[in-house]
Amino acid sequence: MLTYSTEDTLEKSRRFLPGGVASVNRIAEPDLIFVRGSGAHMWDSEGKRYIDYHAAFGPHILGHNDPHVNSSVARALEQHQSLYGSGTTSLEARLAEMICGCAPFIESVALLNTGSEATYQALRLARAATGRDHIIVMQGGYNGWHNDVACNLATPLAELGPRITGEYRFHPISAGIPAAHSQLVHPVNFNDLESVRLIAQQYPIAAIILEPILQNIGVVKPAPGYLQGLRKLATEAGFLLIFDEVKTGFRHSLGGYASLAGVAPDLAVYGKAIANGYPIAAVGGAKRFLDLFVHPDPARRVLLAGTYNGHPIPTAAAIATIERLRENDGEVYTRLEQMGEWLQTEIEAIAQHHGLPLLVERQGSAFCLYLMDHAPRDWHDLAAHHDFTRDKLLRMRLIQEGIYTFPVPAKQWSISAAHTQQDLEQTVRVLHNVLPSSIKP
Ligand SMILES: Cc1ncc(COP(=O)(O)O)c(C=O)c1O
Repeated sequence: MLTYSTEDTLEKSRRFLPGGVASVNRIAEPDLIFVRGSGAHMWDSEGKRYIDYHAAFGPHILGHNDPHVNSSVARALEQHQSLYGSGTTSLEARLAEMICGCAPFIESVALLNTGSEATYQALRLARAATGRDHIIVMQGGYNGWHNDVACNLATPLAELGPRITGEYRFHPISAGIPAAHSQLVHPVNFNDLESVRLIAQQYPIAAIILEPILQNIGVVKPAPGYLQGLRKLATEAGFLLIFDEVKTGFRHSLGGYASLAGVAPDLAVYGKAIANGYPIAAVGGAKRFLDLFVHPDPARRVLLAGTYNGHPIPTAAAIATIERLRENDGEVYTRLEQMGEWLQTEIEAIAQHHGLPLLVERQGSAFCLYLMDHAPRDWHDLAAHHDFTRDKLLRMRLIQEGIYTFPVPAKQWSISAAHTQQDLEQTVRVLHNVLPSSIKP
């Protein structure tokens, strides 16, 4: 296989790819070319090794190149499993059965390729099911790049204005979104039930879509009773509760954060950790909603189509990932929790020792260091109190020292099952040296 030198790679990428990257949110300083990933580690083209906490924005729950996932993929290739584009396959049937076994509310599942496709389809199902057009999204949440949801992620406070109960304006994070969408999409603050109640009184809402933990701005957790409150509001007002578990699903438990919280959404969307780095996503939920894809009345049928849906390679990867996650009654989640807890305790001890304004917010293997004196309850709180400049500085220093966290403030750190105690201890040694000088006011 032809490989380019670091310089040639950068030069050709910049010449031929917009921004020099395949996904513009990957633009990051320093400009590193990664050439290998194995377990908890990545190597750049200069041969430097990093302990990886970025996990490619979340998928690598088992670590890079997990042997079981690799052999499942290799087997699919050896058996000449191909894309047939006609009927179904035993891989699809097996994966669908496995996903439906992950939580009682998943009676049926649609297989797609990316999280964005899956949130798109979930919203379409909700609109078709209710005959309503309006949706509610979270300020500080991310649900993909399409027109309804490409909005209100890290909106600058100057644009957002003061915290309000009621309604924020639609702040697109992409050009090219028709203005009509701003009339149909209602962003609200996380952990604010009253806003949802008010909006549902004013507009015919088809669905609320949210990450049950806001993991695109670190780890912002739901307050006790919040998700239950949303469930109740949705049921009363007749709109669908959609959990976007693209980041939380399979990372925190097989049944996602829904299972841990004991709240059954109408639909849940999965991606990322479901296949440990291979491109596949799913929408699961009540059969009566999923059956809208095959409604006998063409006028009520939702279009489910995709040349690559159920492609054998990512499907084989997802089966193998779920097999690994199910081993020994989900022992992997116990280990991830132990590692997360150990790291959190050590980091907080460093902060306390040096009197640093830092806390760790964590769910299992996902955590975030916030440079503020309390855990953020929503984007507004985070934007007003977190020290973004020092967070960025800290991340740059860590990268220099061989610890890869994505060099953008308030991004989630992810531990994988391949991290060892040695990796964690090395991380803590580096943090001991780097934290005080990076974040002391
Ligand atoms: C919560 C959430 N939903 C949806 C998406 C979109 O997934 P994809 O990038 O696979 O389209 C992402 C991606 O980061 C995500 O974090």
